[in-house]
Amino acid sequence: MSAAMSLPTNSVSGDIRDKLIIGLDVPSVEEARAVVARIGDAGTFYKIGYQLAYAGGFEFARELIGQGKKVFLDLKLHDIGNTVEEGVRSVARLGATFLTVHAYPQTMRAAVAGKAGSSLKILAVTVLTSYDDNDLVEAGYAPVTAAELVARRAGQARDLGIDGIVCAATEAERVRAIVGPDRLIVTPGIRPAGAEAGDQKRVVTPAEGIRLGANHLVVARPIVKAADPRAAAEAIVREIADMKA
Ligand code: C5P
Repeated sequence: MSAAMSLPTNSVSGDIRDKLIIGLDVPSVEEARAVVARIGDAGTFYKIGYQLAYAGGFEFARELIGQGKKVFLDLKLHDIGNTVEEGVRSVARLGATFLTVHAYPQTMRAAVAGKAGSSLKILAVTVLTSYDDNDLVEAGYAPVTAAELVARRAGQARDLGIDGIVCAATEAERVRAIVGPDRLIVTPGIRPAGAEAGDQKRVVTPAEGIRLGANHLVVARPIVKAADPRAAAEAIVREIADMKA
């Protein structure tokens, strides 16, 4: 895996497998445990979102961390500052590696305060990718467009000391220009060539995602629902490793 040396270095470790974050979008801890066991050492980094978090996922996060895996808690926090700060402090104590918050200034400030002294990294979600300009009109944001709001919030995230941004790979170059080389960019919407897009509208391959500036890729269904999840994960890691080999 000599390619690791020529890849962007600002990910959470030098292990190229960490570039792939596997989304555990399954309804129960039992299913999550089975998927993780099948993937074995091909998977080092797992994302737990609402579905699993509220079905025993926090205890399972502890279990994964105990096995030496990294955990991304995709909780997209947003509340009054004190509540966010204390919530983030609890997640930091759990030993998670990444946590998402919505990119509102009060929320981001509180999250940065809550993670102080820990190795937890806070990722900001600028504008949910399911929102377009019409949704922002409906939500009362007009005349600000989605693109303008992404740019504004990415700049605020940078200025407030947020560690990284979650965005579509198609937005990664624009976000990178704003946040600079040292912040993390984490992108979902990744599909290996030939995989079904599902409900993802703007998909790119793993190699394209990295080329567009992502430090980490989030992939769920193409791995979790594969006949052979381990082979699916290995193929993605190999595609990343082969980029500059
Ligand atoms: O199955 P798939 O690879 O499409 O899953 C992508 C994961 O990334 C899901 O857990 C989804 O919730 C998450 N995500 C996303 N798009 C965003 C933010 C998060 O698909 N803009």
